[in-house]
Amino acid sequence: MTIDLAALPEDFLWGTATSAYQIEGAVAEDGRSPSIWDTFSHTPGKIDNGDDGDLACDHYHRWREDIGIMRQLGTNAYRLSIAWPRVMPGGDGPVNAKGLDFYDGLIDALLEAGITPSVTLYHWDLPQVLQDRGGWPVRDTAHHFASYAAVVADRLGDRVKHWTTLNEPLCSAWIGHLEGLMAPGWTDLTAAVRTSYHLLLGHGLATQAIRAAVPGAQVGIVNNLSYIEAATDRPEDVAAARRLDGHTNRWWLDPVHGRGFPADMQEVYGVELPEQQGDLETIAAPLDWLGLNYYFPSTVADDPTGQAPRVRTVRRLGVPRTAMDWEVDAAGIENLLLRLTNDYGARKIYVTENGSAYPDIVRPDGTVDDPERTEYLEQHLAACASAARQGVPLAGYFAWSLLDNFEWAYGYDKRFGLVHVDYKTQRRTIKGSGHRYADIIRAHGRKRRNAA
Ligand code: FCB
Repeated sequence: MTIDLAALPEDFLWGTATSAYQIEGAVAEDGRSPSIWDTFSHTPGKIDNGDDGDLACDHYHRWREDIGIMRQLGTNAYRLSIAWPRVMPGGDGPVNAKGLDFYDGLIDALLEAGITPSVTLYHWDLPQVLQDRGGWPVRDTAHHFASYAAVVADRLGDRVKHWTTLNEPLCSAWIGHLEGLMAPGWTDLTAAVRTSYHLLLGHGLATQAIRAAVPGAQVGIVNNLSYIEAATDRPEDVAAARRLDGHTNRWWLDPVHGRGFPADMQEVYGVELPEQQGDLETIAAPLDWLGLNYYFPSTVADDPTGQAPRVRTVRRLGVPRTAMDWEVDAAGIENLLLRLTNDYGARKIYVTENGSAYPDIVRPDGTVDDPERTEYLEQHLAACASAARQGVPLAGYFAWSLLDNFEWAYGYDKRFGLVHVDYKTQRRTIKGSGHRYADIIRAHGRKRRNAA
């Protein structure tokens, strides 16, 4: 498939994304303390096949090789996350020099390779010590997060300009505290709503901390938004779609844009917000860009007896699905990019994650063929380019993921990498999709040079 990339700007960031717990391993090295994901993954029954992140891709030791792979792919950006429990093993207070040194070296090497680092401060790995003190349902955690953000920004801010406060706070709040399928594994609506509130408060406080430490910082937040349609035009299903929109989209976007927490959803949850004076202004601190993580669309119907937001997902027949059982439909990414632009006035957007899991075929000669992932990549990039042609200020795309990695509750079974990892040997092999991504990046570069 040929993709018309002409609408993408010259300085477009072509990247890959990862997160600390999913790739680093070395969970007990150089002073790192356990995070809630260490606890969760070592709790029997929580992760498929009993997998855990103890070794993962051993990136903590193999990061030089991994940067070499980024160079082979031709990417000019890399989205990584910092492990809070490496930097501040006590959750707050003393800084662990060795933890910071690791990221310091990584950043230097990325820059040397001509790769712009985009740093996420929180990709779900809360220090367990803070969980033991109440976790995100407790207000103090937001303040601890800001202190940690200040330390990292202070150390790396001379070289790192792209900052993300939170990755997908929705998952931490709703999946971690309401559905119980991610750490810390709670099923408590009150705790979940309080978590969502304190995460956004922490986002606002951390934004201030980054700006104070880093002149010229480009700060954003990363949400996994849903493109939602009602299964039928029955008023009940239309209302259900509106509730899911509130739950997954508006609850996270509105407060950050100074619109407060959506009133309809406050009614659905029926939980009092732990609001203090000035919080809403803090949460609405102006941002430089919005991050969109997109994987699949949702079609929903009313579920009157279900838990908030009382919706159930309806399977669309004839729509292709990934190994995650997620529908493949690139119209969703285009629609969400347009919505962020038109409804929220986004001035700059990055697709901070997009990708697909499929079982890979490792050929006898060692090469890895993944035609479905390649097609998914092409279709979604074409949809991004189409959004850009319609005026969406899209400034970059980060493929999820650089490497196959620890896919949370699904363990190592679900492979999202552009690069295959043989977990027995830690051998990395660029898949067909990775080669295709490199071609696309090169083609965009050529266009740039020709235009110049
Ligand atoms: C997102 C997460 C990321 C990865 C992908 C598949 O929700 O941010 O860590 O697991 O899904």
